[in-house]
Amino acid sequence: MALPALLLLLHLLLSSEGSLSPPRISFTLNSTERPLLHFGHGDLHNATALLLSRDSSTLYVGAQNAILSLDVNQSDVIRLNKKVQWSPSDKETADCTGKGKDLRNECPNFIHVLQPLNSTHLYTCGSYAYSPQEAYIDTQSFSVVKKVSAKGRCPFSPFERSAVVIADGELFTATKTDFRGIKPQILRYFSKDGRPDVSLETSIRLLEEPTFVSSSLDPAEGKLYFFFSEVGKEFSYVDDLKTARVAQVCKDDVGGVRTLQKKWTSFTKATLLCQFEKQLPFNILQDVFTLPPPEGGDTADTLFYGVFTTQW
Ligand SMILES: *[C@@H]1O[C@H](CO)[C@@H](O)[C@H](O)[C@H]1NC(C)=O
Ligand SMILES: *[C@@H]1O[C@H](CO)[C@@H](O)[C@H](O)[C@H]1NC(C)=O
Repeated sequence: MALPALLLLLHLLLSSEGSLSPPRISFTLNSTERPLLHFGHGDLHNATALLLSRDSSTLYVGAQNAILSLDVNQSDVIRLNKKVQWSPSDKETADCTGKGKDLRNECPNFIHVLQPLNSTHLYTCGSYAYSPQEAYIDTQSFSVVKKVSAKGRCPFSPFERSAVVIADGELFTATKTDFRGIKPQILRYFSKDGRPDVSLETSIRLLEEPTFVSSSLDPAEGKLYFFFSEVGKEFSYVDDLKTARVAQVCKDDVGGVRTLQKKWTSFTKATLLCQFEKQLPFNILQDVFTLPPPEGGDTADTLFYGVFTTQW
């Protein structure tokens, strides 16, 4: 039987006793204070990516073969603004099934990422018939403007997760880079100002079968954080013991010299421990949400909310 997930407030960055209210860990059905709104639309399935607009009036939803823009401004109803279809062609689908993948569960386009790129465009990537693609979406016309291969930057498998942060037009991604989903990477691409794209050195194993769940930018420190679970090689049990981690890289890292050209020189990782005294740890990270301080506040007051569960 699965233990209930434990919600833990992570004071990763030292936080002063803030005035923020504690996270809501339960949601009452039919509550009059905060009614639960439902939205359904035609053949909408697998809403795997969600993005709320800056002004909180629009919710972008990445679903199977489609991206939707929803008006969430009303308190009593969610309305469809626009929908854009983004599906593989019959030939691309046939190529996918030809590689032994399942027509209905693996060969559609499942959206992995939806992020604001700049003031006018969103960035998205999807598994696209096991041949990942990325695209820009013009938020005004709500159309897909440019599609290119995202191999190496977005997972092939619809069931794999990745974590993306966009900072000043540069993309920072933690993902699996290959068809089989065994090669993890943390990359910076679309690098600006003539600096090279940077990735993890792969001749040594810096990550052990990671499952990435989330990422965040610390603008004050110029750092990116990636949250994940991986096999904890420091433990020697019969079964692989998973452990929750956070990794960091510096936003402006340009790589090292000689064999370390275009490789992160700032990568480090640390364990996240969520455990009651004398009990087994909640060792698997399911998600992390970053709550920045109010506008103009001290970034040291950033809060990270983590949801953990156990391997057992
Ligand atoms: C946002 O990015 C897109 C894609 O690169 C580009 O076409 C567009 O001009 C950019 N918009 C602004 C306001 O920079
Ligand atoms: C899509 O949804 C179906 C039905 O809920 C589910 O069985 C399947 O695992 C989902 N696929 C992904 C990639 O989330």
